[in-house]
Amino acid sequence: MDVRSLLERLWQDYAALNPQAGKIHALLAALGERIVNDHVALRGIDDPRLCLERLARPFVAAGYRVGGEYEFREKKLRARHYQPPESDLPLVFVSELRLAECSSELRAIVTALLDQLPDGFGEREDLPVAGRPWQVRFSEYEALCAESEYAGWVAAFGLRANHFTVRVNALQRFGDLVELDAFLVRIGFALNDAGGRIKGSAVVYLEQSSTLAEPVEVEFSDGVRRIPGCYYEFARRYALPSGELYTGFVERSADRIFESTDRR
Ligand code: NI
Repeated sequence: MDVRSLLERLWQDYAALNPQAGKIHALLAALGERIVNDHVALRGIDDPRLCLERLARPFVAAGYRVGGEYEFREKKLRARHYQPPESDLPLVFVSELRLAECSSELRAIVTALLDQLPDGFGEREDLPVAGRPWQVRFSEYEALCAESEYAGWVAAFGLRANHFTVRVNALQRFGDLVELDAFLVRIGFALNDAGGRIKGSAVVYLEQSSTLAEPVEVEFSDGVRRIPGCYYEFARRYALPSGELYTGFVERSADRIFESTDRR
């Protein structure tokens, strides 16, 4: 699958699940902004069928290269970002849960989900947007969330974009993240204040903020429940001393951004 088609499918799926993102996108477009997508984020599990490398495969095949490695010890996650082959394509940020570091209870639930994967699932060309390939009970989702909100999110939503990101540098009407955040709050969006509304600073060449994931209806095998879906992120990048724009990620900021999908 062509990587631009894959990105378009990821966006369509994400916007359909999260009306919030489509609304913000439309509001900015109505102000005359041309929205540049800074990065798209994918979540996986370190099983060979759903691992980081597997999710990144269609992007690597299209010429994306590893740009940085990240670790989130407390959340039992590892992540990587990939640099696009062409500057108008977004960065791709892929993470995975390290099962060996989780409790045996969590592993048992996740293993039961993985056991439901159809043959050849991990080989799908559209794996990053394959959706949820298993049935899961709400009680299992809750048990996963109690230990790892990340695991709960993956169990409930499966394979799809966790978030897209507006690159603030490319906006004309908003000089910085403070102005954009104020605009979003004024029109009624809730932002993630964990660790401060704006994560990072010019010193680390990256500032990020994000909405709180809005509750969406999810069908569990024992009924429909409303749980946090996806969020929309906003990133302002700064130029390195070399003059080039910083294209990496900052662990301490990303660590708190992950919490945008936590239950509240
Ligand atoms: Ni992000």
